[in-house]
Amino acid sequence: PGPAPADSYDVTFSKIDKATGAQVVVPANYTVEVMYAAGDACVAGSAAFAGSFFGSGDTEKMAGGQHDGMHFFEIPGVDPNKGGLLAINHEAPEVAVLFPALFEFKPETATAEQKKLALSSVGVSVIEVAVGADGKWAVKKDSKYNKRYTGNSTYNVSGPAKSAVGNTVIGTLNNCSSGHTPWGTYLTCEETTNNYLDPSQAEEGYGWVVEIDPLGQLSGLPVKRTALGRFDHENTAYLMGADNRVAFYLGDDSTPGCVYKFVPNGKVDLNNRAANANLLDDGVLYAAKFNADGTGQWLPLVQGQSGLTAGAVDPGNETQGAADDETIDFLTQADVLLNTKAAARVAGATLMDRPEWVTVGLDKKIYMTLTNNGGRTVTDPANPRVSNKHGHIVQWTEAGDAPTATTFKWELFLLAGDPSLAEDNLKGNIVGDTFSSPDGLRVDPQGRLWVQTDASTSASTTSVFGNNAMYYVDQKSRASRRFLVGPDGCEITGLAYTPDLKTFFINIQHPSSALGAWPSNQPGQNPILPGRSATIVVRHKEAKPVGA
Ligand code: FEO
Ligand code: CA
Ligand code: CA
Ligand code: CA
Repeated sequence: PGPAPADSYDVTFSKIDKATGAQVVVPANYTVEVMYAAGDACVAGSAAFAGSFFGSGDTEKMAGGQHDGMHFFEIPGVDPNKGGLLAINHEAPEVAVLFPALFEFKPETATAEQKKLALSSVGVSVIEVAVGADGKWAVKKDSKYNKRYTGNSTYNVSGPAKSAVGNTVIGTLNNCSSGHTPWGTYLTCEETTNNYLDPSQAEEGYGWVVEIDPLGQLSGLPVKRTALGRFDHENTAYLMGADNRVAFYLGDDSTPGCVYKFVPNGKVDLNNRAANANLLDDGVLYAAKFNADGTGQWLPLVQGQSGLTAGAVDPGNETQGAADDETIDFLTQADVLLNTKAAARVAGATLMDRPEWVTVGLDKKIYMTLTNNGGRTVTDPANPRVSNKHGHIVQWTEAGDAPTATTFKWELFLLAGDPSLAEDNLKGNIVGDTFSSPDGLRVDPQGRLWVQTDASTSASTTSVFGNNAMYYVDQKSRASRRFLVGPDGCEITGLAYTPDLKTFFINIQHPSSALGAWPSNQPGQNPILPGRSATIVVRHKEAKPVGA
């Protein structure tokens, strides 16, 4: 059977009110448990942070910090609703579990060991998780699948910019959000184009999408796929056609940044994982132009096309006029990929209000969060508000729903904000539970659209919206219903699920790091430890799909 139509599912959970406090709040009949916190044991034989500080040899093997995007992968032969692999991004160091109190990490003055400690906390965890005899999800201690990919590990490089970057790079960094491929690999996205924790590393090594095989079957991985461009990557999501052609959508979380897609020249082989080994090295990277009439174009970022030649003029930030224009030579495709942001501007792509997550619905509608851009002074139809403090969501469909389309149709899906705010510009048009700064975004396999927020945690913002939260948003009525509220100080980011959708894994990033703060105030947790980022498990008490 094909996927259910997007309006066929049930959504019956009782919405919750906005809230602040040191807890995760979920609707009646739901449970929430802490499963994998920063500093927990990961690699076989590793120790967990318990209040005393380790050297980098140990922290390299434990859970990294600032949990962000993630994906659940099946293990052959294992009931995927009872166990599987979670690949989890760690966006930044979790200082509270790495360094004694009051230590401030500064790359300019840090010792080599302090840099190694910080770099050990970023990257990716792969963990085997399973439902235990007590009915609770837990990390399978000492599983052969448990692995860390960190800022100190070595990564292969492939694609057209390999000639400039080199065969290998030390470290993946600022692993913000992520995606996956139809052949079951994980795509971790680097949201920085330099190694700010170790500036001695060459800049060209960062700002890429990195492919990892959580099952460890495919040789040559992990690999930085340069064909997908170098910018402040947020996440990826794909659209696949009946002919097995595929497009990967990508956002550049910059103020402002562009929207991209990468279309491999080859087809996906669903019967032979290894046959897809080079698919992400050979294809066309496009940037999006959103026209005023609701149409759009995908502009090819190919050397020699779209103005990408010697002596091209990068217009820079459109609001600066000619003051920040720069001449740039695009002589090779490596030049285009190393300078993707400039290439997109030269091509005439639309500068958007910080493109964060993108997701593809069952009906092939594609959604992207534009989280906010308080500094916008000039509007365009796809970014219609100056001083856009609360952000918006755009939606588009490809011509013919084809991944290979070069045109699309788009509309504004919603403008975030709250009607109680004084300025018209800040009210937005959300029906139901309002929010600011949409960031995490996923349509689940039954077609429910989930939105996670990363708004300011200042009192002036939380008094209007409460703490950062996760919402269900109906794709037709666009009505919003609050499902989960995080603890003080956090953003909500990262959503994965078992195939039956009865288990949701959600990440709580940067809650208060005070001693005893969440999750240390939760059952089974050590109450003297600092607050820290963690993956939680959310389930319905009567084992219904989450949200149903
Ligand atoms: Fe790491 Fe754009 O959020
Ligand atoms: Ca300019
Ligand atoms: Ca984000
Ligand atoms: Ca964000």
